[in-house]
Amino acid sequence: MSKVVVTGGAGFIGSCLVRKLIESGAERVTVLDNLSSGKEANLSEVRELVDLHVTDICDYEAMAPIIAGAQRVFHLAAIPSVPKSIVEPVPSHESNIDGTFNVLRACKEGGAGRLVYAASSSAYGDTEVLPKVETMKPMPLSPYALQKLVGEYYCSVFTKCWGLETVALRFFNVFGPRQDPTSQYSGVLSIFMTCVLERTAPTIFGDGEQSRDFTYVEDVAGLLIKASRAPAALVSGICYNAGNGGRFTLNETWREVCAIEGVTIEPKYGPTRAGDVRDSQADTTAAVRDLGHQPQFTFPQGLRKTLEWYRATLVRA
Ligand code: NAD
Ligand code: UD1
Repeated sequence: MSKVVVTGGAGFIGSCLVRKLIESGAERVTVLDNLSSGKEANLSEVRELVDLHVTDICDYEAMAPIIAGAQRVFHLAAIPSVPKSIVEPVPSHESNIDGTFNVLRACKEGGAGRLVYAASSSAYGDTEVLPKVETMKPMPLSPYALQKLVGEYYCSVFTKCWGLETVALRFFNVFGPRQDPTSQYSGVLSIFMTCVLERTAPTIFGDGEQSRDFTYVEDVAGLLIKASRAPAALVSGICYNAGNGGRFTLNETWREVCAIEGVTIEPKYGPTRAGDVRDSQADTTAAVRDLGHQPQFTFPQGLRKTLEWYRATLVRA
């Protein structure tokens, strides 16, 4: 039986990927996660088909045997917040750079097949031109953005030096069910969802005219699987944008969330966050051409599905 490993598989995107892998035929999935932000409950529907190892990717001796011999490894474990990497740079550095090196080393030494890496569009920083295309020079604005870029470079170097098959996908702003809204570092849409359901005003950092290419989590999970199957000669060692290709400001997004819910709530405004990228939008040409990227959800469709999930979850809580 072919072994599939998902690091960070108890997290928001990782748990969606695990469900999709099982839907698309994987008999079992191995999850490697230290549960720092992920939760076992995120895997509840598929729990009996998951081998969960509560292990830290920074502990090479503990994690390497879990990865050894895997045909496919999806590396999503990371501390995923821009502001957290500024307030607490050491744990971010350790998980996002040292941990990523460990995962790559474990793949190489354990004879694993392809590694698909969760890279980040934050690597671009502020570019003069939109949409952002993979040939642009990266200009990271935060420790997190730099860390994720180093991970990409390490993937390409493991391919060049040791022949390990790697594909990096630069996710843009991913949203959907199970994104944890409870931390000050939570993704903005998870915060917008809870605010609208609780009829409270969110705080928008800056003037709200910054924009993001919000991408529904199931489209990202689908693309991860496509990247794990595309011909090696075409994709190995390459990094692809994994966005939707659209762009919405935070002001527009909050208005849309309120309109879906049928309420009007004025947001509060606070100071711009350090390390914040102003605008983000993916050129998806390469991912469409080489990986067959074909997002299934428009932004409003994704928002509606996400809002329904938070509504059901908040009612149960
Ligand atoms: P998440 O916090 O829900 O998932 C990260 C998972 O990694 C969690 O389950 C956490 O417990 C685990 N983890 C963290 N450090 C670990 C360590 N040292 N050892 C083992 N497990 C560890 O976040 P997410 O939004 O699902 O992000 C998943 C990946 O996607 C990350 O690599 C992130 O950088 C990347 N990404 C996310 C977005 C986004 O918009 N959410 C965009 C670009 C890239
Ligand atoms: C997000 C992801 C990061 C990913 C990157 C890719 C999270 C937590 N961050 O970073 O992993 O690599 O996209 O593009 O998933 N904001 C508010 N109010 C809030 C929270 C945020 O106004 O309460 C603003 C932020 O200042 C920012 C925007 O919303 O301008 C998005 O912030 P956030 O959701 O934290 O994501 P990014 O920093 O874009």
